Amino acid sequence: MMLGFKSWTLFLFDAFQGPHVQCAKGERQHVQRPFFLAVGGGWLSQCRRRRVANLRATVSEVGHGIPDLEHVDPEIGSLINKERMRQSRSVNLIASENYASPFVFEILGSVLNNKYSEGLPGARYYGGNFVIDDLEKLCKDRALKAFNLSPELWSVNVQPYSGSPANFAVYTALLEPHDRIMGMSLMAGGHLTHGHYTTTRKVSATSIYFESLPYGVDPKTGLIDYEALRETAKVFRPRLIIAGASAYPRHIDWAQFRAACDEVGAYLLVDMAHISGLDPPDLVRESQRQLPSSESIQLKLAAVFPALQGGPHNATIGALAFQLREVASPEFKDYCERVVANSKVLASCLTKHGSKLVTGGTDNHLLLWDLKAEGLSGAKMEKVCEEASIIVNRNTIASDSSPISPGGVRLGSCAMTTRRVDEEGFRRIGTYLVRARDIARGIQERPSRPGKSVERWTWLHW
Ligand SMILES: Cc1ncc(COP(=O)(O)O)c(C=O)c1O
Repeated sequence: MMLGFKSWTLFLFDAFQGPHVQCAKGERQHVQRPFFLAVGGGWLSQCRRRRVANLRATVSEVGHGIPDLEHVDPEIGSLINKERMRQSRSVNLIASENYASPFVFEILGSVLNNKYSEGLPGARYYGGNFVIDDLEKLCKDRALKAFNLSPELWSVNVQPYSGSPANFAVYTALLEPHDRIMGMSLMAGGHLTHGHYTTTRKVSATSIYFESLPYGVDPKTGLIDYEALRETAKVFRPRLIIAGASAYPRHIDWAQFRAACDEVGAYLLVDMAHISGLDPPDLVRESQRQLPSSESIQLKLAAVFPALQGGPHNATIGALAFQLREVASPEFKDYCERVVANSKVLASCLTKHGSKLVTGGTDNHLLLWDLKAEGLSGAKMEKVCEEASIIVNRNTIASDSSPISPGGVRLGSCAMTTRRVDEEGFRRIGTYLVRARDIARGIQERPSRPGKSVERWTWLHW
């Protein structure tokens, strides 16, 4: 009986989809049958809805079954292939990158991209959003679960397009134009969106639309100078202090930030872009002591849409929801532990070979290699490494005077840990980096000899 029902509906399904779908490579397994089987009876009403609208669009036309991209657009197709090869053939040590899972790619390339949905679940400005509403609610629930937060006390906005607009949305929500913000200096490891200006120019929009003042690190230890931060806050009296960084290799003392904010009546914003997976309990405990009122929650929501954004990127929200489920799993905890252990192994390998790291080591997923101490620039090291298919990024260190010519490189362990490189593998990566350093030194010592370009020199000496 059950079997009969299934074959009957399968037949209907096939008839409805038409021959177009039959031709689309590999798609029947991936899209149609699981969809139908999971949805069961609901599928018939979906079908009816489409007929009422006189839509002949098949699932293929809506969003799947792209014929071979390289035939349709050879330029983009081949660029994507080249990038895929580059990624798979190189050692990736960029601290802000990782490899998305095939499921994330599937979600990002799904029909969720087709829908426009300005507004919030249950309050959209466009019709046809009942599925998107469920998706966004699911994502929000999963975010609260991942951080162990009570829905009675906390609200989440999952619509910001990425980290930078999310930061600006918080400023827009909580501050008036030209209110004061303190964030970690870009030189010391902060992010541009925490405020950045030079003697002649306000570079970051945060510094254009608000008044920003950076705090730094102790030049000797490389650690955040909490005492100086508090003293400066007492004079500057910011309305918001940002804790969190892009290139800080040590634990952040959230309680110190909390105390500094309490002292001057400032909001505390934790920008956890880099360390959200590594340090959630402490981070949340400190933020919880200053819960936003329901009024400021409303403000926050309005600061994303309609203040700064239009329609959310629903495929991104779907991928985020998927990822948040993974984050809540014991496997993810284990992954984070391996990320930190690998990062420490890399740090000890470099210091063992005479290199200097900012703060002397790491507590998290990244390390900052002080190359000035070895007479090198971050740019040269980045270039030599790239010639050897090791991808790193040059990064300012606290003693730099300009972000244009940084004296260090930042190394991160997340991406290669995802590729299952273990501590032994990271030790090996450490020795490659040391070799790259020595080659860079060789180039440095013979800067003007013809035919000794970075590419050729690296190739000859690797
Ligand atoms: C601490 C921090 N905040 C914000 C951002 C901005 O994120 P996005 O590049 O996604 O806008 C970054 C980027 O790496 C970051 O490190």
